[in-house]
Amino acid sequence: MSRAARIAIPVAALLLMVAATVISSSHETGLPEDLASFTHVNTLVVPDTTSPIHGIHHFYANKSALKTMKAGVDGGSYPDGAAFVGVVFAPHKTDDGRYREGDRAAYTLMRKDAGNDATSETGGWHFVMFTADGEKMDIDPVKNCFGCHQPHQKTDFVMSELLAISPMMK
Ligand code: HEC
Repeated sequence: MSRAARIAIPVAALLLMVAATVISSSHETGLPEDLASFTHVNTLVVPDTTSPIHGIHHFYANKSALKTMKAGVDGGSYPDGAAFVGVVFAPHKTDDGRYREGDRAAYTLMRKDAGNDATSETGGWHFVMFTADGEKMDIDPVKNCFGCHQPHQKTDFVMSELLAISPMMK
């Protein structure tokens, strides 16, 4: 083996390990890259302009989350990897007094990762918020998110209800 190969191979292996770590951690709390495969399950309007989550939220579930939601989670829990994404739009008031979606304002994410220290105070879920460009925002998941979700332990802290799912999805 040449001297260059003796150096290059371990360096390449190290780079692969670093890349794998970055990919696996961003997989947990990053904005899912397969968002196009998620299913729309619910829409929520938060009219309070002082709320950090003010806006029109469209919620999407990945396959695992949708399966559990449809089966009924009553008292049980979602499996690790189950994920919900909220795509948030700023409300835009039209000249004739209606509201429609304005610019995309943010994304919210809940991803189940029970047993991870980072989720021990938030029911086993990562709560993450991103800017409209997908940059992770500096929020406190306990203070900024879990307060509203915490009372919903019966549905594993998921607030969207099956009843709200479009009949087409049932
Ligand atoms: C003011 C209360 C409130 C706060 C604070 C809040 N949420 Fe929620 N969230 C809701 C409600 C209500 C729903 C479900 C809508 C419905 O019931 O129709 C929801 C739904 C969600 C969903 C879809 C899954 C589900 O539970 O239905 C995600 C993802 C989500 N929120 C993420 C977040 C994140 C991340 C934060 C913190 C940045 C956050 N939420 C803060 C009220 C809140």
